[in-house]
Amino acid sequence: MYTRREIGPQELEAQDVYCEKIKQAIASRPHYAMVDTYGCQQNESDSEILRGWLAQCGYLPTDDPARADVIAVNTCAVREHAELRVLGNVGSLAHARERNPELIVCVGGCMAQQERMKNRLRDSFRMVDLVFGPHEVWQFPELLWQVIERHGRRGNKSRVIAAAPSDGVVAEGLPRRWDSEVKAWLSIMNGCDNFCTYCIVPYVRGRERSRRPADILAEARELAAAGYKDITLLGQNVNSYGKGLGEDKMDFPDLLRAISDIPGDFRLRFMTSHPKDATEKLFRAMAESEKCAHQLHLPVQCGSDRILKAMNRHYDRAAYLEKVAMAREYMPDLVLTTDIIVGFPGETEADFRETLDIVEQVRYDAMFTFIYSPRAGTPAAEMDDPVPRAEKQVWFDQLLAVANRISEEKHAAYVGRTFRVLVDGETGAEPYNLSSRTAGGRLVHLRGDPSLIGRFADAKITSSTTWALYGELV
Ligand code: 5AD
Ligand code: SF4
Repeated sequence: MYTRREIGPQELEAQDVYCEKIKQAIASRPHYAMVDTYGCQQNESDSEILRGWLAQCGYLPTDDPARADVIAVNTCAVREHAELRVLGNVGSLAHARERNPELIVCVGGCMAQQERMKNRLRDSFRMVDLVFGPHEVWQFPELLWQVIERHGRRGNKSRVIAAAPSDGVVAEGLPRRWDSEVKAWLSIMNGCDNFCTYCIVPYVRGRERSRRPADILAEARELAAAGYKDITLLGQNVNSYGKGLGEDKMDFPDLLRAISDIPGDFRLRFMTSHPKDATEKLFRAMAESEKCAHQLHLPVQCGSDRILKAMNRHYDRAAYLEKVAMAREYMPDLVLTTDIIVGFPGETEADFRETLDIVEQVRYDAMFTFIYSPRAGTPAAEMDDPVPRAEKQVWFDQLLAVANRISEEKHAAYVGRTFRVLVDGETGAEPYNLSSRTAGGRLVHLRGDPSLIGRFADAKITSSTTWALYGELV
């Protein structure tokens, strides 16, 4: 049974004490810390908190593993590919550890939260000093202190293997080092209750719990006051925001309106939306909220009703297409993106054709496509999966070709038109040295002075490719 556990002020103050202890322990010389992130935006957001904690503990930030005294790897468990990359990279830290015996290696995130992986990290990756889960980010200083305190006792006893089972932590007031001065993540909820049969997320991030509207609004005001120009609300399924909040309850469309009403010149976006919970009320709020970008990430996953049912998605293709039509009625300029899984257990060529067909019907602006990856502990991992990997790859390549063609066609239609873009960084390449985004989130390369970063500008689109637009400032 799920229990919401709100971390109290005393528990947080205790973390501050651990930060002080660490600060004193490393005061002899400058110490450096690096955080390496895999996976989704929620992980990016958690890594900002880890960087916040490390800064409070007295560590200076670095991206150079050779210089780091602490390396924290924030991992993803959604597909096997991400896990293998992490294991390879963590394994290679054995060399860094030989060079610097003081190095502390921490592995956190969704991969570490799985019992099976936690044990593997403990037993086969001796260079790992600390294993912790996404529910323990709020107590990172305490865990790190345990490692530091035991230092000098290298071997079994010095290691801290946490990642305890948990499903309901809500922590407010954690320190945070934002990655960007222009764009910010704002996590509004955590966990997921949907149990799509292929997905590991509900098992590692726990049950869905929402932050209180007052806490979210306070953070949004802080971001607006700090001059952030692009705020993305994060949740595994933002459309079910507010469930279980009791008296404080607010639903997602109302939250969106309330944040949009905060004074400031910023754009507001959100992800991810589960199609079953996307409502007319949401589309109306998006259309009517001045700051809300007309951009919707609405993962369809598959175009076949039979497979959607096996995936436990709770909608069929007709219902999905109806929602897309309704959203586009409210926002004719809507930029629509999606996720698709190819090769779910039992998927046939005919099912796959239905996916191709829905993609042609909807014409997404961008698609994130994946080959199904069995995740131990999920229902789909137990299902018969007779289609060989090579055949799934052929389907995948076909889908990618269609996705790319549509993106290219959609991008070509931008040429000659002028858009308000937010300049968000440098590309590192000439002559288009600046990167920017339209309200719909499309990437526009520009030529201009780096002092424009963090500002809105008007750009006329002059050319396009499958992946990006190119423009001139007007
Ligand atoms: N295999 C492949 N793709 C997956 N996703 C989630 N679980 C799996 C899996 N087991 C994809 C879904 C989801 C996106 C974040 O990752 O498309 O929307
Ligand atoms: Fe996974 Fe489905 Fe939840 Fe998304 S909605 S995190 S795919 S279980």
